[in-house]
Amino acid sequence: MNIDWSNLSFSYLDTDYNVRCYYRNGKWGELEVSSSNQINIHMAATALHYGQEAFEGLKAYRGKDDKIRIFRVEENARRMLSSSKGIMMAEVPEALFVEAVKKAVSLNKRFVPPYESGASLYIRPLLIGTGPKVGVQPADEYLFLVFVTPVGPYFKEGFKLTSVAVMREYDRAAPRGTGNIKVGGNYAAGLRAGMLAKEKGYSAVLYLDSREKKYIDECGPANFFGIKDNTYITPESRSILPSITNKSLVQLAKDMGLKTEIRPIPFDEVDTFEEVGQCGTAAVISPVGRIDDLDNNKSYSFSKDGEPGPVTKKLYHKLRALQYGDEPDPYGWVTILE
Ligand SMILES: Cc1ncc(COP(=O)(O)O)c(C=O)c1O
Repeated sequence: MNIDWSNLSFSYLDTDYNVRCYYRNGKWGELEVSSSNQINIHMAATALHYGQEAFEGLKAYRGKDDKIRIFRVEENARRMLSSSKGIMMAEVPEALFVEAVKKAVSLNKRFVPPYESGASLYIRPLLIGTGPKVGVQPADEYLFLVFVTPVGPYFKEGFKLTSVAVMREYDRAAPRGTGNIKVGGNYAAGLRAGMLAKEKGYSAVLYLDSREKKYIDECGPANFFGIKDNTYITPESRSILPSITNKSLVQLAKDMGLKTEIRPIPFDEVDTFEEVGQCGTAAVISPVGRIDDLDNNKSYSFSKDGEPGPVTKKLYHKLRALQYGDEPDPYGWVTILE
């Protein structure tokens, strides 16, 4: 195996095995191990026609001690449960989810990048309706699958500021739609705006609430936070995905003596933030240097020297240290692989 660990990007690379579990006749079967990257499903599967599809994303990290740590896997299990309830799919029990993730990582240990590379192993659990239906209704059969793929550090050149764009023309999710669960349809809905933003040089779209366009929702694939007056502030909204990274940062911010506020954030308030960031599994934190309101030709800047702010930096390093096992894990967030 010849992987250039330090030059990996965030893209798919085949590994040795994936694990699968089938739901048939009202119950889950045994976990199966597969070495194929193909799945064989019915052409009338509900995943293909009616979007019965949910996924998760988490990571495993190799520490200085060579141990492999999986970050907050139980939280991802719970979020997938909530996604399956949301679109009426068979529910993957938490224990099955955790076992499948551990097994998928364990079978592909040689793909967990070395500590020094700053890379990690991305874990992608997937749940799809495989049973055939022509009428719009939930399937009777499901496939739960976990594959892994090594991914590079999000910031190849270090921890860099990016810009995000506000484009009111596009919504990612409806106010009482599926924005708060991790289902494929949300990502399809966001593709056009996301690609347009990328073409214009932005790292993501900053979505405002789709009812009034008054409050901040989230960035394309990440939650939003702002820092001011020694306070970590992040949106409360029914249409954003509850980010596990964000939840972790709220705790770490408290530990650092910051106040924390989870509340609706009017877009007008961005002016007052000292630091702004996007957070999620892929990047941990992607610090935001500028928000461009493309509809009103207005820009908001959050850095004087082109560098991420001190609070953002501290939070980023603290969370990374926990994930790689450089620091003790007081909250039991990390599962060490046997
Ligand atoms: C829409 C959206 N928001 C936020 C996040 C960040 O969530 P997490 O921190 O659990 O990766 C993700 C990525 O999973 C996402 O797709």
